[in-house]
Amino acid sequence: MAQSLSSFIVVTILVFAPTLCFAGKSNGGYLYPQFYGRSCPKAQEIVKSVVAKAVAKDTRMAASLLRLHFHDCFVKGCDASILLVSTGSMLSEKRSNPNRDSVRGFEVIDEIKFALEKECPHTVSCADILALAARDSTSLTGGPSWEVPLGRRDSKGASLSGSNNNIPAPNNTFQTILAKFKLQGLDIVDLVALSGSHTIGNARCTSFRQRLYNQAGNGLADFALDQSYAAQLRTRCPKSGGDQNLFFLDFVTPTKFDNNYFKNLLASKGLLSSDQVLVTKNQQSMELVKKYAENYELFFEQFAKSMIKMGNISPLTALNPTAINSYLPGIEALSGTNFKKWKEQIRIVLEIMDLDYALRESAPTKPNDTSSTEHMALYEK
Ligand code: HEM
Repeated sequence: MAQSLSSFIVVTILVFAPTLCFAGKSNGGYLYPQFYGRSCPKAQEIVKSVVAKAVAKDTRMAASLLRLHFHDCFVKGCDASILLVSTGSMLSEKRSNPNRDSVRGFEVIDEIKFALEKECPHTVSCADILALAARDSTSLTGGPSWEVPLGRRDSKGASLSGSNNNIPAPNNTFQTILAKFKLQGLDIVDLVALSGSHTIGNARCTSFRQRLYNQAGNGLADFALDQSYAAQLRTRCPKSGGDQNLFFLDFVTPTKFDNNYFKNLLASKGLLSSDQVLVTKNQQSMELVKKYAENYELFFEQFAKSMIKMGNISPLTALNPTAINSYLPGIEALSGTNFKKWKEQIRIVLEIMDLDYALRESAPTKPNDTSSTEHMALYEK
């Protein structure tokens, strides 16, 4: 019984959900910006105020928070698995090669979570906090803003191997990087636009040293790197030692979210090899770099779209009562011209609620002569 109902509920949702949702569908999960509209109306305001405070104290924090969302989404989807610490049976993603001694911002996420638990306990997921903090970090540093589809749930498991294998490395080839994006359902346009995140933030000497001394195994610096820029970088990034020394990813406007990153690439002054290959190894990505270097609005527009797409990678969603209730704010208001559509949306929500109830409650016992009328009515239902 429960199984046939489950199949029915899945079919119902697959058939009808597109009319209920206004954003991000991925792998059967439905996210939409108004998810906390009723359950935690101040959620977005709270996230933004904590992020703003943290960025005012340390401008680099914007970059670090933006990167946390990326490193979360590329491993088992945007499920906050990056935040989990190791347990007896699970190894934390914080120990992976891309993350170790590199990702930061966990204390800001903790502070946001603390503030949200005070306002509306057990409501806002950490995966949604990461997505909102990434958006706020972008807009607070001068970049675009967008509506973040919400409703992700948090994972209870992490994947150290996923973190090591799925997140692109700075010395990966263009083809490998693109393949890793494609594995997540992202394309070359997303790759170029999202790489534009490197308009803010820092990288350590160890992330690009090879380019300065021995890019191709011949003891020479990378030909794709401007030679005077390389000489300048070598002064603080020696052949050995200084691994943790920090360098701006965009040396022109390091704390401002703008399109100078793309202009730098065209001048052979991208810091990471993975940045520079966007102009040296593929015609289509080179043309996109040119377009974004010429027109920052085009870059901002695509960046917002690609961030939403990245934020939709395999979210965990559930048909729990909160999730179902939160479909309601997504139903458009009755206006006098949309009665048919409005009625259909209400009917679907009510049906889903009925089915959800039926799935969670055990079947009532068979009534007998002494049963109450409520019991009989429930059994009939
Ligand atoms: C295309 C493949 C990518 C590669 C190979 C890559 C690699 C890197 C590396 C090596 C660093 C410096 C880490 C360190 O030295 O500690 C870095 C920093 C950063 N990355 Fe990426 N990244 C990529 C794409 C992205 C994407 C898609 C985003 C965001 C959507 C992003 C956001 C950032 C930010 C903001 C920083 C600076 C972080 C900070 O200052 O704390 N990156 N990335």
